[in-house]
Amino acid sequence: MKGIILAGGRATRLRPLTSITSKQLLPVYNKPMIYYPIETLIKAGITEILIIIAPDYSGHFLNLLGDGHEFGAHFSYAVQKEPKGLADAFIIGEDFIDNDDVTMILGDNIFDQDFSDEIKGFKGGAMVFAKQVSDPERFGVVEFDKDKKAISIEEKPEKPKSNYAVVGLYTYDNRVVEYAKNLAPSPRGEIEITDINKIYLKNGEMKVNIFDTLWEDAGTFDSLLRVGNIMAEKEKSKQ
Ligand code: G1P
Repeated sequence: MKGIILAGGRATRLRPLTSITSKQLLPVYNKPMIYYPIETLIKAGITEILIIIAPDYSGHFLNLLGDGHEFGAHFSYAVQKEPKGLADAFIIGEDFIDNDDVTMILGDNIFDQDFSDEIKGFKGGAMVFAKQVSDPERFGVVEFDKDKKAISIEEKPEKPKSNYAVVGLYTYDNRVVEYAKNLAPSPRGEIEITDINKIYLKNGEMKVNIFDTLWEDAGTFDSLLRVGNIMAEKEKSKQ
């Protein structure tokens, strides 16, 4: 299983913080944001990791993370010139993924759970994680039938069919690369990971794991502050 961390984009919503560095390098309490997705992958046993970064501040990532040996991992890097969508990570990462399965995590998604059982138990197709939220219209939304079987998935629907958001942690078999290459851009001009998930769902090959522990997409001032406070409490409770 290979790992990809998508840490591209310009993060204009976080200016002026992101006028001097990348969003994924901003502090979340006592460490840079990207440490969290790195730790989530490593906890799940994934140590071969491609970090996809925007051209601006790419040197900052190299200075901070290097080749990954300090984390007991091996990092490689690729530059995404334009933010073309989450699914673009599988096109950029084609050679890196090679013939393996792949787990992608978004560089600003922060979890506090060990997903190793689920990821090590992956048996092909697609596997996504979903959590109940109060603002599902901001996310990919998965709808279930009464047996909790996923029946639809939509990207940022105006009228969400459930309050289960699909979070930024995805595991796929090798076909994801070909699926990504054949996607048409969405109305927002991006190739959407939700469109990849739709293909697997249609084929009856998408597993959805519902979870209820911490998840924050730290891409706004409020969520960045919130998750920083949560992590501070957690660290202090250990002392
Ligand atoms: C992306 C995905 C969305 C997912 C979210 C998780 O949204 O498109 O399906 O729920 O990440 O953070 P974006 O961050 O591009 O708005």
